[in-house]
Amino acid sequence: MNKKIPKPSKSLLPDFQGESCQIGGIELFQGDAISLLKSLKDDSIDVAIADPPYGASSKTPTALPSDHGLKGFGGAWKAADHSWDLLDPSKQLDAVAEWVSELKRVVKPEGSIWIHGSYHNLGFVNVVCQSLKIEIINEVIWFKRNAMPNLRATRLTASHEGIIWAHTGGEKNRKYNFNYDFIKAKDYEEDSFKNADKQMRTVWDIPNNKTKYELSFGSHPTQKPERLIQRMLDISAPKKGTVLSPFAGSGTDLVVALRNGLKGVGFEMNPEYYELAQRRLQGELDREASELPFGEIK
Ligand SMILES: C[S@@+](CC[C@H](N)C(=O)[O-])C[C@H]1O[C@@H](n2cnc3c(N)ncnc32)[C@H](O)[C@@H]1O
Repeated sequence: MNKKIPKPSKSLLPDFQGESCQIGGIELFQGDAISLLKSLKDDSIDVAIADPPYGASSKTPTALPSDHGLKGFGGAWKAADHSWDLLDPSKQLDAVAEWVSELKRVVKPEGSIWIHGSYHNLGFVNVVCQSLKIEIINEVIWFKRNAMPNLRATRLTASHEGIIWAHTGGEKNRKYNFNYDFIKAKDYEEDSFKNADKQMRTVWDIPNNKTKYELSFGSHPTQKPERLIQRMLDISAPKKGTVLSPFAGSGTDLVVALRNGLKGVGFEMNPEYYELAQRRLQGELDREASELPFGEIK
């Protein structure tokens, strides 16, 4: 096994007052991403993975009449009824612009920005990226073949999420890190669209199940499968790069970064999720008999 875990280094936010931890080369801060992002240095990040609130809660205020009968905007999204996901759609554009412009500032021109979402938030993200001249490289569809059925039988079964992959170098500087040969060669066994020596498509067939190990430290209601994040890093992370996870949740992005010998920095405002992420990171560091290799990024 090739464990190339970076040692703790100088803090990226040395003046931070509050809960934080450094585990391997990963720093995690408990606090508001919007203000913490402002303290990061320009061009200090190689890959940012943002899994923000989608605003998909059925309690989201809408401009529709109160008797419209549509819970949230439909589909199986009622599962996402969390207080942190309650966003006012009339304020979403400004809110998204605030953190996306910070990502533009902190991510290197040859770096990548990945943003998760559904139709609730990705429209705003797309408009903001285009307005800020952040070039969208691809729009990925994460196909969840094991999605929950639409039990009310009122809509199509929501079985995908969108992911935007973008870079900050601008149209004239498309030098973003793209590990093309590595991912082309790789066989993602569970993905019916991606065999070895085939180009990766923009539809990723990745079941939304988490392994027992992924859930063994506790779970987050919108926890992403590690395999999904592994793929983003396979595509865009340089060796020894630094990953930013501004809405860290249970820490999936950072755990996968640690496993791949990368550095990382994450923010999470909810103390319960901050602690969960901390446990997961420590567990990853302590893991001796790993079935997953470290240092996979080529
Ligand atoms: C969609 S979840 C991320 C889930 C994560 N990808 C995982 O795999 O566990 C979004 C997270 O962002 C946190 N959050 C929302 N607004 C935030 C803010 N302004 N600053 C920091 N964290 C925030 C929420 O508490 C929630 O845990």
